[in-house]
Amino acid sequence: MQYQTETSIKSKIAIDIQNLTLQLGKKSLFENASCVIKTNHKTALIGENGVGKTTLINEIIKNTNKSIKINPGIRIGYFSQDFTNLNFQKSVIENVMQNTNKSEKMVKNVLANLLFKDKDIHKKIENLSGGERVKASIAKILVSENNMLILDEPTNFLDIESIESLEKLLKEYNGTILFVTHDKTFIDNIATDVLLIKNHKIIEHEGNYTSYLQYQEEKSKKKETYTENNKLLLDFKLSQISSELSVTKDEERKKELEEEFNRLIQLRNLTN
Ligand SMILES: Nc1ncnc2c1ncn2[C@@H]1O[C@H](COP(=O)(O)OP(=O)(O)O)[C@@H](O)[C@H]1O
Ligand SMILES: [Mg+2]
Repeated sequence: MQYQTETSIKSKIAIDIQNLTLQLGKKSLFENASCVIKTNHKTALIGENGVGKTTLINEIIKNTNKSIKINPGIRIGYFSQDFTNLNFQKSVIENVMQNTNKSEKMVKNVLANLLFKDKDIHKKIENLSGGERVKASIAKILVSENNMLILDEPTNFLDIESIESLEKLLKEYNGTILFVTHDKTFIDNIATDVLLIKNHKIIEHEGNYTSYLQYQEEKSKKKETYTENNKLLLDFKLSQISSELSVTKDEERKKELEEEFNRLIQLRNLTN
């Protein structure tokens, strides 16, 4: 299935970030950082927890920062972890049908492609699991009028099968994508470009994650690359746990997650 984008963008640059300097409270996140996000490329935004990936995306969405120029032809569909695009009192199908001129048949097809069961699409969002909420939110974005997707950690909460079906939909998406994830396979399967936030700068790499790692390997010793991989894996697990922690109501599960989180944080500190 093709998700045709409405406007064809002539410029090769979707978003142009030049000399971005940004502080949050006392913490400096970016110092003269620059990069471009190319039109119709699928760019993975990576970096350790807390480097400012979500903050950068928020700045793009707000579109008030003078250092960030968004091509006027770009219309963004935005997935954030707080499900701001969903009405929790309404059903999946009601939510997804809300901002689209696509037919109900087409919308149901997208939901089916995301492995939504027929009987679940009439459930209210408030009664869904974390993973189903992610899928409902992404389905709503996929069928809305846009030509760029910005997805902040869409893989959290999703099981392997759902991640694979999301991969397929994103590969078929006929527009620009900027996405954050700690899932290396997901990056490798989708990304044409990688942006890495490190030391308050944004490092651009044309190519997928594997080619990025190869490039890094040439530059540094193998041992350092190994540490980087371990860190990414730990960061991935940490961010999954914190996502689950933010929604779980089960006290016992909460305690279990907190213990696992603390254990991983200690490991993470050892790899620094
Ligand atoms: N409103 C805020 N005030 C001060 N610091 C913040 C605020 N929001 C986030 N931060 C801090 O800014 C840093 C970057 O956060 P974030 O952009 O969420 O990182 P990432 O998405 O890469 O994990 C983190 O260290 C976080 O604690
Ligand atoms: Mg984040």
